[in-house]
Amino acid sequence: MEKKILITGGAGFIGSHIAERFDRENYEIIIVDNLIGGKKENIFHLKNVKFYEADIRDREKLDKVFEENKGISYVFHEAAQVSVSVSVENVYYDADENVLGLINVLDMCKKYNVEKILFAGTAAAYGIPESSVSSENSKIAPLAPYGLTKVFGEHYIRMYNELFGLDYVIFRYSNVYGPRQSAHGEAGVVSIFNDRIRADQDVFIDGDGEQTRDFIYVKDVAEANYLCAVENVKNITLNVSTNEKTSVNELFGYMKKYLGYEKEANYREPRKGDIRDSRLDNTLLKANTSWNYRYSLDKGLKEYAEYDPK
Ligand SMILES: NC(=O)c1ccc[n+]([C@@H]2O[C@H](COP(=O)([O-])OP(=O)(O)OC[C@H]3O[C@@H](n4cnc5c(N)ncnc54)[C@H](O)[C@@H]3O)[C@@H](O)[C@H]2O)c1
Repeated sequence: MEKKILITGGAGFIGSHIAERFDRENYEIIIVDNLIGGKKENIFHLKNVKFYEADIRDREKLDKVFEENKGISYVFHEAAQVSVSVSVENVYYDADENVLGLINVLDMCKKYNVEKILFAGTAAAYGIPESSVSSENSKIAPLAPYGLTKVFGEHYIRMYNELFGLDYVIFRYSNVYGPRQSAHGEAGVVSIFNDRIRADQDVFIDGDGEQTRDFIYVKDVAEANYLCAVENVKNITLNVSTNEKTSVNELFGYMKKYLGYEKEANYREPRKGDIRDSRLDNTLLKANTSWNYRYSLDKGLKEYAEYDPK
């Protein structure tokens, strides 16, 4: 058996793909998830997983999980309050999850001598980008509590490194898409289109559809997590992206093609505060690891279209 890892939020979309990647290498995988957004079915197919239904805010329970599974090498912190609009409606809840929940996880990493924590940060840290592409040293100016608590998280992680020597990798993911992404609540545009097209419902595009995003396939995100754990990468903040710009209209075109959808999109009022263009530079990730993205949008959407959620 390979090393032991723990994934918070491992029954969710990105967490379950990280679990799948390590499962292939025969790691022992411990998952902590309160199932608020995740599902046990997302990890049923994996062989080396031990699942704990627990909330990261429950310090005692979290301690028990680490105590029962001594010798964890890497912790992947994916559990979070993930919705921008929920963070605006319930600022306290967002901070409770994303700041105090994280501090519990950091304290366990410290107490149980975890080698490295890998953190799911976000492009939302940049707010309205100052230039066409954001690099890791671009201005940090989140627009909502969600982005702010994620940035706070980054600062706490760097401080745990300075004070207690806990190594880390902070990721800032761009727009992640792929199998198992939920289209409920506030979801990515790809999963919303996917669900509506598969159900043969109308598709709505906010604004003129010419707004652009940097879409990355979830398996490339899982691979970045895997390589940053096993290669000697530490104490660094890295964008995880393709650095390719795609408009929502182009995205819809690809999805029509792969899912065999014939209707046209319905255009409606732009969403208030929607960012026009967002793209992340991935030079640093490529320079520090053997990572490169393997899924163009075309390839990722094709694979996603073939995925059977049943
Ligand atoms: N999906 C994206 O495009 C994207 C982009 C940037 C950053 N992120 C970050 O990546 C991480 C994973 O996001 P995702 O898209 O897979 O969302 P997700 O909702 O599928 O995954 C989050 C998981 O965390 C669990 N969770 C939430 N609160 C918890 C708590 N208090 N205790 C235990 N488990 C809890 C949920 O049940 C869920 O399984 C999040 O931290 C998110 O902020 C995602």
